[in-house]
Amino acid sequence: MAFSLPVISSIVIFLFTFISLSQSIPFIILHGIGDQCSNRGVKRFTELLSNFSGTKGYCISWRWNMGFLVYATCGTGGNCLQQVKEMKELRNGYNIVGLSQGNLIGRGVLQFCAGGPPVKNFISLGGPHAGTASVPLCGSGVLCIIADRLIKSEIYTEYIQDHLAPSGYLKLPNAIPSYLEKCRFLPKLNNEVPGEKNSSYKERFTSLQNLVLIMFEHDTVLIPKETSWFGYYPDGTFNPVLPPQQTNLYAEDWIGLKTLDEAGKVKYISVPGNHLGISRRDMKRYVVPYLVDKASRKRSIENDSGVQSKKIEQTATTIDKKTSTKAIFEGSSSYFWPSSIKSFVAELLGLMEEPLPPDT
Ligand SMILES: *[C@@H]1O[C@H](CO)[C@@H](O)[C@H](O)[C@H]1NC(C)=O
Ligand SMILES: *[C@@H]1O[C@H](CO)[C@@H](O)[C@H](O)[C@H]1NC(C)=O
Ligand SMILES: *[C@@H]1O[C@H](CO)[C@@H](O)[C@H](O)[C@H]1NC(C)=O
Repeated sequence: MAFSLPVISSIVIFLFTFISLSQSIPFIILHGIGDQCSNRGVKRFTELLSNFSGTKGYCISWRWNMGFLVYATCGTGGNCLQQVKEMKELRNGYNIVGLSQGNLIGRGVLQFCAGGPPVKNFISLGGPHAGTASVPLCGSGVLCIIADRLIKSEIYTEYIQDHLAPSGYLKLPNAIPSYLEKCRFLPKLNNEVPGEKNSSYKERFTSLQNLVLIMFEHDTVLIPKETSWFGYYPDGTFNPVLPPQQTNLYAEDWIGLKTLDEAGKVKYISVPGNHLGISRRDMKRYVVPYLVDKASRKRSIENDSGVQSKKIEQTATTIDKKTSTKAIFEGSSSYFWPSSIKSFVAELLGLMEEPLPPDT
C-alpha cells in the first residue's frame, strides 16, 4: 500500500518540526538550600549558563522543605513540582542543573514523578547524593556546637524530620537502622529500604542520556565530599570513604547508577574549589557541553577550524584566564545555612533572645 503524497509530506513536515524543536532544549536550575532564584549568585549563574550555551534556562524556586514534599505529593499520586510539569517550555524535554541540595529535589522530580516531561541530561554540582554525615550549621560558635550535637542526637525524630529539610538526607553511618526506618527522604530516593524498593524510580533514573557528577575537591560542606559522586562511608563506620563502585547502592544497582555507568553515561568530574565554587572555565568545560543543542555544537566545531574563529577563541581564553580562578558563587549564600534554620535551631534550644553568631 502506497502513501499518498499529502501523507508523506505531512510526515516530512512533522519530522522536520520535531527535529528542529528537539535540537534546542531548555534547562532548569534547582538552587541550594540557603538560596533563592532572586539571589545574585544564582541569577548570574543561570544567565552565564544561558549565555555560554545559547539555550534558555529557568531557575525554579522551591521551598526549603520541598525535599520532603516532593516525595509526599508524588507518593499519593499528586503532582510533583507542579511548576515543572506545567511549564510548556519544557514539554519537549529538558536538562536539569542541580546545585547542592537542589540535586536531590531534581532527582525527586525525575525519579518519583510519573508523566512529567522527559529529563535528558542531569548535571549535578556538589549534590549530597549518598547523604551527608554532618550538619554544617553555622560555624564553630558555642551555640552551633550545642545545636549540632542536639540535632545529631535527635535527627531521626518525627519533629525534626517534619521541620528541618537537611535531616531528610543526613545519614549517620553509626545510626543506619534509625536512618532507614525514620529518615523521610533519602532512603526512598536511593531505594535503600529492604523490601520497599520501587523499580519505577530506577527505570526513570536510567532513562537519562548523561549524568554529570561534579565534586569539589575542597568541599567542606558535604561530609564526605565524595557523596557528590555517590561515594560514602560503609554502614557502621566513618572510614574509609568508599568509591561509588564499592557501595551497595551501586553494586546492587538500586537506582540504576551501575546501569548508567556501564553504558558510559556517568561522568565523574572533580574540580578545585569549595562547595559550588566553580570557575567559568570549568563551567564551560563540564556543564555547557551538555546544554548546548546539537546544531550549534556542530557550528562551533566547524567554526573552530576557521582562522577568524581561532582569533575569537584566543581572546576568549585570555578573558577566561583573568576570570577563571574567581568562583561564580563567591559571596553567595549558597553554602550557608539560611537564618530561618538558625532561628529554628535557636527556638528549639530556647535561645531565641540571644544574638546569633555571625556567619563564619
Ligand atoms: C549575558 O548576555 C547578555 C547579552 O549579551 C549580557 O547583557 C549579560 O551581561 C550577560 N550575562 C552575564 C552574566 O555575563
Ligand atoms: C512506585 O512508585 C510509583 C510512583 O512513582 C507508584 O505509583 C507505585 O505504586 C510504586 N510501586 C511500589 C511497588 O511501591
Ligand atoms: C559560525 O560562523 C558562522 C559564519 O561565519 C556564524 O554565522 C555562526 O554564528 C558561527 N557559529 C558559532 C556557534 O559561533
